[in-house]
Amino acid sequence: MAAVETIYHDVVILGSGIAGLRAAVEIKRKYGEKVDVGIVSKLQLMRSHSVSAEGGTAAVLYPDEGDSFALHAWDTIKGSDFLADQDAVWKMVKLMPMEIVLLEHWGLPWSRRPDGRIAQRPFGGHSHPRATFAADKTGFYEMQTLYNKLLQYDGWERYDEWFVTNIVVEDGVYKGVYAINLREGKLYLFKSKAAIIAMGGGGRLFNFTTYAHTVTGDGYAVAFRAGVPLKDPEFVQFHPTGIVPAGILITEGARGEGGYLLNNKGERFMLRKDCAPTKGELAPRDIVSRCMIREILEGRGFKHEETGLEYLHLDLRHLGEKKINDRLPAVREIAIRYAGVDPVEEPIPVRPAAHYTMGGIHTDSDYKVLDAEGRWIRGLFAAGEVAAASVHGANRLGSNSTAECLTSGRITGVLAAEYALSIRETDVREPSPERTRREEDWVWGLLRRESGVPSYEIKRELRNTMGKYFYVFRDGDGMQTGLSRIIELRKRFRESAYVEDKDPIYNTDLVAALETANLLDVALAVARAALNRTESRGAHYRLDYPKRDDENWLKHTLVLPYGEDDVTITYDPVRVTTWKPVERKY
Ligand code: FUM
Repeated sequence: MAAVETIYHDVVILGSGIAGLRAAVEIKRKYGEKVDVGIVSKLQLMRSHSVSAEGGTAAVLYPDEGDSFALHAWDTIKGSDFLADQDAVWKMVKLMPMEIVLLEHWGLPWSRRPDGRIAQRPFGGHSHPRATFAADKTGFYEMQTLYNKLLQYDGWERYDEWFVTNIVVEDGVYKGVYAINLREGKLYLFKSKAAIIAMGGGGRLFNFTTYAHTVTGDGYAVAFRAGVPLKDPEFVQFHPTGIVPAGILITEGARGEGGYLLNNKGERFMLRKDCAPTKGELAPRDIVSRCMIREILEGRGFKHEETGLEYLHLDLRHLGEKKINDRLPAVREIAIRYAGVDPVEEPIPVRPAAHYTMGGIHTDSDYKVLDAEGRWIRGLFAAGEVAAASVHGANRLGSNSTAECLTSGRITGVLAAEYALSIRETDVREPSPERTRREEDWVWGLLRRESGVPSYEIKRELRNTMGKYFYVFRDGDGMQTGLSRIIELRKRFRESAYVEDKDPIYNTDLVAALETANLLDVALAVARAALNRTESRGAHYRLDYPKRDDENWLKHTLVLPYGEDDVTITYDPVRVTTWKPVERKY
């Protein structure tokens, strides 16, 4: 294989979703050509999964109508089951209104009220309508607006369809990024003063998910392998309304606009005393998903004939065709295309689908990446879903994720640029030739095996395992079985993963294998952390430990790799600055 060439930028941004683009825009608008930026993504720029965000972005826009920063912060912290770091929450909440205004000025066509002001809709767990939206295509418009804005500037370059294989951290310092240029089939080293990891989530770990096929936990995996702790990976969000059978998101905006969930008796079960009598369908997602799965387990669901998937109904018929077309056009299109159901006339079949990872790369509230002792890994930042600051704790509220993508992008853009300006190019470190050789061995070694198991078979088994043992309800025995399977699958990958296509040029078979390796690393962290946490909190619900246990577990899990299939777990205190934990009722 060709020698590994080096590419230099002052700041490299890994990922071109909302967080990555927002970081790039911030660097360019504040520092212009003083800071040179490279944006590296395995996808073409507008294909990041952020374009699929539907329902809205949370921000306090109308204090005159009763909303406030304190209310938004409180809703978020209560929604997080008190695992959120409260300083990080306040930061996001206070920055958000300006983000909405900036996007408006940069051309985003927010949906409007009849009086022409920006419209906001209710979302689960929020005590005020504060999800700011552009119909039900909010993420698409945010991406397009940020991309358009970025095009106004010079001094940045995009590396579309470059697959990041690893990052290097040594002696507490970030030293570079390896990536394959898929078009050329060559491995490169990116050197930079600073890097922002903004590589999105890991939802494809599960068999039923709202995520695109591309969301394979790459950011978590490259950090983890570089010795950066993953914080709270056990907390995976299951969005109540993935369409059956595809899993595609039916936005919570559908319930925000007044949609109901119904069981096979036609009952709005969410209003029952044992679910969420005051919030109903607009309770936080962990609660709605648990109530839905209970309905199904107790025989009040429906069954999809071809797949055997059990589901409930999301009924929008009473909203009427005009409202559905105005506010939820994508929902109507998705339902017709993927379930053969027109929501104007029939309810939509839905069940909880993996949607978000609350945990992620360990950062402080400025999104500086930390080691297990809480020291900043110099030069390294993380933004968006891949980062755990932690704003969302054990359960994220809907519409807070695109919000955090924007604010964390903005914060890391400024800090990475300032850091880059503070050091000389000659001080930039790089990995040793020996480290680069190991990277080549890892990447191209996968092509050498002459026979074995295709990676997609291992991936399929992994996703089924995660869906079976780490879904909405968990228990110790099941998770132990799941963990053993994950370890078997990791061994199978090491010993026999086979890439049939041997051509280095645009080798999607190789990419699939590298993604599977990433998913296997993330699965290990999720499983070990979930087994270890002997309580129920937010999205991590254990039938064998059904209660929250603040005395022993009001703390963040930090997971680091140890040996081939093990991890070490340490803890970090939750930063409680404003509200002490109380019982969570809706
Ligand atoms: O339901 C939704 O539109 C999803 C929003 C979110 O996850 O924040």
